[in-house]
Amino acid sequence: PEQLYVQSEMPRANAPGFNLEHIEHSNWLLAKTDALVDKQYEGGAIVNGELSTGERTQLQSPANLEITVGEFTEATEEQIDRAISAACMAQPAWNALGGERRALILEKVGEALENNYAELISLISREAGRTLNDGISEVREAIDFCHYYAASARQHFIAPMPLTGPTGEVNEISLHGRGVFVCISPWNFPLAIFVGQIAAALVAGNSVIAKPAEQTPLVATLAIQLMHNAGVPTDILHLLVGDGARIGKRLLSDPRIGGVAFTGSTETARIINRQLAEKPGPIVPFIAETGGLNAMIACSSALPEQLVDDVITSAFLSAGQRCSALRVLFLQHDIADRVIELLKGACDELALGEPWNLATDMGPVIDQDARAMLVAHMEKMQADAKVLYRYPEQKVPTTGHFFGPQIVELNSLAQLEREVFGPILHIVRYKTKDLDSVINQINASGYGLTLGVHTRIESMAKRVFRDARVGNTYINRNMVGAVVGVNPFGGQGLSGTGPKAGGPLYVRRFATEKTFTNNV
Ligand code: NAD
Ligand code: ALA
Repeated sequence: PEQLYVQSEMPRANAPGFNLEHIEHSNWLLAKTDALVDKQYEGGAIVNGELSTGERTQLQSPANLEITVGEFTEATEEQIDRAISAACMAQPAWNALGGERRALILEKVGEALENNYAELISLISREAGRTLNDGISEVREAIDFCHYYAASARQHFIAPMPLTGPTGEVNEISLHGRGVFVCISPWNFPLAIFVGQIAAALVAGNSVIAKPAEQTPLVATLAIQLMHNAGVPTDILHLLVGDGARIGKRLLSDPRIGGVAFTGSTETARIINRQLAEKPGPIVPFIAETGGLNAMIACSSALPEQLVDDVITSAFLSAGQRCSALRVLFLQHDIADRVIELLKGACDELALGEPWNLATDMGPVIDQDARAMLVAHMEKMQADAKVLYRYPEQKVPTTGHFFGPQIVELNSLAQLEREVFGPILHIVRYKTKDLDSVINQINASGYGLTLGVHTRIESMAKRVFRDARVGNTYINRNMVGAVVGVNPFGGQGLSGTGPKAGGPLYVRRFATEKTFTNNV
């Protein structure tokens, strides 16, 4: 299968992927995933390498509620305490191992993920409802995180940095693990974000307690098992599966916790921030990557076909369940009607279906609650805004939590109070003279994750980039699918604290600095 990989054309070391338009690639992947279709997975807490036993809950696929993907057990209070104690005890030796040894282990984890490419894609599609293409890019990203952070460790964690000082005195600064890092991740990238946080925390010399989303315990369990098998010591990396509020309450109030990396909603980040402020013991760093109310601005010089293609990808890839996804498209008046017509036609062409089928463009949303939130939002939009497009109801599968693409016209971005996490695109028309108002609306939302601009006028693109307070700006392309090392990813304001995942400064935030002064 290795020969079937598409080698990256760029002179960089990102992982290879598959091209599903290539018959040999798709046949290979489908044969592998079909063979796994009935496999049942076991998930649960893994403390000191032992998978917990106990009362099991079945997990159904969000794409087809008749398909059981596996079973999992929730972490007990005793397991939470045991994980903290073990992680705390083991961390000094892991820190002392040094950056090079830790980097080598992380590279082995990258290889293990690559060797299990097809199984991971298969499980991601069944448990999280992600399409095969989403699964491919997710596994690639997870592999990339391992290799990229290993390379970062070689830069920052091998030797101390010498500093200038008075004659006869040696001065150095060096980076070290902080202790036990808690890594809390969302369901929408159940592998990539889960692995990325852990990889950075580990390579910086921390032990890790990982807490995946309630919806995706099985991908998380498989990933931890692969990491342990690849050489991450079992007392250094523990997994706690279960309800976030319950586990968070116990875990985050423990004085032995040395730092928290969180990716998820802005609301949960606020709760965790409050808990950490009140926790006994040291003040610890909180890295939060959260939601967005992401906009794209398209002026009349944009190329309509390219614009429509990029809007469809940005708003509806992964059923709009990406933090980076486009939520509000600002269309200049003169092109608005034409672009809206093209968008409606393109939405009609999107195929909803089981995500493990090649023909599917959009899988389900993650669960009943997510779907109910989207239905409620459309009811509100029906009253407060103008609904421009609804995906034909008869084409929406009824086997799982499906929700077709929708388009709504607003007067202003201010009509949205918070992130709407799913395939609903909002459109606001603007006039040329109103560009400042558009930028003000984006900034006034308080969110600042991604921003798209479609224009052939370079000065406009530069002005928007300069004035908009967002983390990632994409000009004349779609605004999703940040690539590790190429588009370091993360927001500001309500969208997160930074540093950017997949960027050169990320791992450093997981470390503490020490200065050494020796009057020799
Ligand atoms: P969520 O906030 O509901 O849950 C995220 C994680 O936090 C889960 O593991 C959950 O169990 C845990 N959690 C919940 N309450 C907790 C508490 N009180 N204490 C400790 N942990 C708790 O988010 P979600 O629904 O899983 O994910 C979707 C959200 O994630 C969206 O808002 C999306 O924008 C955001 N997201 C952001 C990024 C980014 O890089 N900025 C990437 C992906 C997803
Ligand atoms: N990093 C992911 C993307 O860019 C969220 O789509």
